[in-house]
Amino acid sequence: MKNIAVFASGSGSNAENIFNHFRGSSVAQVRLFLTENPSAYVLERAKRLGVRAVVFGMDEFRSGGVLQVLKEEQVDFIVLAGFLKLIPSYLIDAYPNGIVNIHPALLPKFGGKGMYGDRVHAAVIAAGERESGITIHYVNHKYDEGKTIFQASCPVLATDSAADLAQRVHELEYKHFPTVIERVLKG
Ligand code: GAR
Repeated sequence: MKNIAVFASGSGSNAENIFNHFRGSSVAQVRLFLTENPSAYVLERAKRLGVRAVVFGMDEFRSGGVLQVLKEEQVDFIVLAGFLKLIPSYLIDAYPNGIVNIHPALLPKFGGKGMYGDRVHAAVIAAGERESGITIHYVNHKYDEGKTIFQASCPVLATDSAADLAQRVHELEYKHFPTVIERVLKG
């Protein structure tokens, strides 16, 4: 049985979906949610789901303090689901091939620092793209540049607002992210 920690900076709908996917699973369980944002809605979700939630300060995050809690919960695998901060080197080194991220577009396009959530969808629409989607990838030392594990695409309609596209992309995330995590964990 693998123990998963999910990092999220905002709403946490993927965090909740992943938690529910592994409820009762013999492969893995979600042991905790972590966030740097004390007003993130993911904390409300944690309360409702009965999962431990940890809010950390950025100094603590950058200097290694987060490792202690990951050890306490015997975390084997880290999932970034709408987490907006760069992962420090010590964490990448502590979890080789053990950290995955989801990005709401088809990388390598529309990635990098500052590209998250609706900003990504607005950029995709502004560029006149006919297709967007999701990319699930390993996390390395640079934003959105780790090895791709899985991509799925969806159309971008001429009438789409960023919110419309976000909704279509979220559906792909809910459908694929938990099963891709499970596949990675099973090796
Ligand atoms: C998701 O769409 C995720 O792909 C995106 O943030 C959203 C979080 O939604 N992540 C990024 O943009 C990372 N660069 P959620 O909090 O409801 O799961």
